[in-house]
Amino acid sequence: MVEETWSVDKSRLVYGVNRNDLNFLDITEDGDLCLQLRGKNITFNEVIKRIKEMNGASPGYASSFTLRIPQLVTYQVKKLKAAFHRAMEEIDYGGKFIGIYPVKVNQRKDCVTAVLRSDSVYGLEAGTKAELLLIKKVIESEKHRPIVCNGAKDPKYLKLIRDCIKEGYNIAISVESVHESRLIVKKFKPEQTNLVLRIKPYLSVEGHWSHSTGRDSKFGLSIHDLYDVVELLKQTGFGDSVQTILAHAGSQITEIESFERFGRLLTKLYAELRDLGLSNLETIDFGGGLAIDYTSSHGSDLMYRYAKLLVSGVKAQLSELHDKYPPPNIMIESGRGVTALSTMVVVEALEVRSIFPLPGDRYVSETTEDDEQKTLDRIKNAPSLKEIKGIWNSFHEKYGGLNLAGMKFIMEQEMVTGSLEDAVRARLVELNLKSYEVDGLVRSFWHPEHIVIGNFSVFNSIADHVMVKQHFPVIPVQDLHVKPQTTVRLVDITCDSDGEIAQFYRPQTNKVWFAEDNRLLTTLEGKMGEGIPVGSLQNVPGSCFVLALTGAYQDAIEMDHNLLGDLPDVELYLQDDGEWVVSWVTGAESIEHLLKDVGYADIDADEDPYMWD
Ligand SMILES: Cc1ncc(COP(=O)(O)O)c(C=O)c1O
Repeated sequence: MVEETWSVDKSRLVYGVNRNDLNFLDITEDGDLCLQLRGKNITFNEVIKRIKEMNGASPGYASSFTLRIPQLVTYQVKKLKAAFHRAMEEIDYGGKFIGIYPVKVNQRKDCVTAVLRSDSVYGLEAGTKAELLLIKKVIESEKHRPIVCNGAKDPKYLKLIRDCIKEGYNIAISVESVHESRLIVKKFKPEQTNLVLRIKPYLSVEGHWSHSTGRDSKFGLSIHDLYDVVELLKQTGFGDSVQTILAHAGSQITEIESFERFGRLLTKLYAELRDLGLSNLETIDFGGGLAIDYTSSHGSDLMYRYAKLLVSGVKAQLSELHDKYPPPNIMIESGRGVTALSTMVVVEALEVRSIFPLPGDRYVSETTEDDEQKTLDRIKNAPSLKEIKGIWNSFHEKYGGLNLAGMKFIMEQEMVTGSLEDAVRARLVELNLKSYEVDGLVRSFWHPEHIVIGNFSVFNSIADHVMVKQHFPVIPVQDLHVKPQTTVRLVDITCDSDGEIAQFYRPQTNKVWFAEDNRLLTTLEGKMGEGIPVGSLQNVPGSCFVLALTGAYQDAIEMDHNLLGDLPDVELYLQDDGEWVVSWVTGAESIEHLLKDVGYADIDADEDPYMWD
């Protein structure tokens, strides 16, 4: 087979950088992963070097950290607004766009304040009392900003809302049940109240959160409840307080065409509710749902297409109803779409462990070596996949599984298995198969044989990877200019075997690309597989991997498994003059703090390497 030359462009494709939601990453000609902000390239190795210099030899800060770039929040907020304005202009839509950031997605101050800095009228959404208190504080001098209060409302939450309204905050209260509507009409005055009717999203969509849609949804009023609530509100003088209807169809909706149907559905309900007499109803809040392209595999400009589909759905339904009512304002509560890009976890690789002994260290008996040679010859000349499987199965009958045979036997078996797997992969490539995902046995040949130990906790930094099998892109910071030598699994330092990332999206190419050791880098169809490609295995210890797009939800749902708390936070800012600065936002969570959380207030961890004054 003719050896093809590798290029940085090929690496861009394999790792998905420089396009869609990884458009802020690129690779230099020297193979270094870099941030690309307003045309300026900043390599991760430069960032790492600079923060190490800032902290001397302090061990707690010279390793893994979370990198925050609030400017990417601003970039996304502006992009979202621009997408809706463009979509509205293109179809001559008369309503306004209203952006609301749901703080539950990332409550961190650097994130929330970045949203506020990005737009002087952007609003915030609270799902609990605590979130409302946070919002109250951050916008105390900007009370004009819209606040939507969602979530189950007990009397205390309602009292806090009432106090905020008295203080001049611009609050809309969502009514999520008949019970809530009864409390609201008792505790509020109609002329001072702005209500949102939260309705179950009667829509079926694919995806992890598909159960948040339809009649089984945990959130919102079912249609029979809606009738009762409207009746109660009208009877008590609150009919004119309803300005908005809301439905949230779930997070990360990649089946983007559903948004056209969603636009139509809520517009139909908007018109029917106006027919029922809610004459101040003027806004439809479509909740969240805007997906992030974690695999760099969707068509480009997901955000614009999402906006266009929603607005077109609304417009089409209005015209079917003969434009009886004015075009409603379109409110969006996107959180994932706004925050995911702004955070990434930079994980230092501590060491590499290999499943098979390295080729140099051979201690194989003559008989086994003889067997191995014969099997190797048969593999090299096997004319078909079927034959390879036959050879493999007979090898396994003799050598596989018999671990009671003792250490020497297991050692030999591992050595031989490693070298035969190498040969099988090479032969499979020569056979130029139509598909390389044939079955479990064949798939096992691509499985990575090297394990990189990363100084982090999957449970703390990317909990959704464990909870909902969320995919996050993983990219080494260097050696991206060479053809990957092999693929690896990145495991964390917790004692849990779920603390591992091996998932890697193998993008679609017309012809499959392979690593030096013939492991798959791409596929004919674009598919999730196992094994993160690395350029040079020997350079891995001490270098870093970047876990990208971690800004949405991961900070809010982190877990302290094994008493491994938050990594230190570094913020990067690109100045107008093109210079970039990094600063420490917070130190890593101290061991003392973690111990206190589980009831040990009296342990003094003097020697805590992560301590931050
Ligand atoms: C009411 C509401 N709005 C907005 C969001 C944010 O959605 P997304 O993660 O799709 O941005 C959520 C998330 O669950 C939600 O419940």
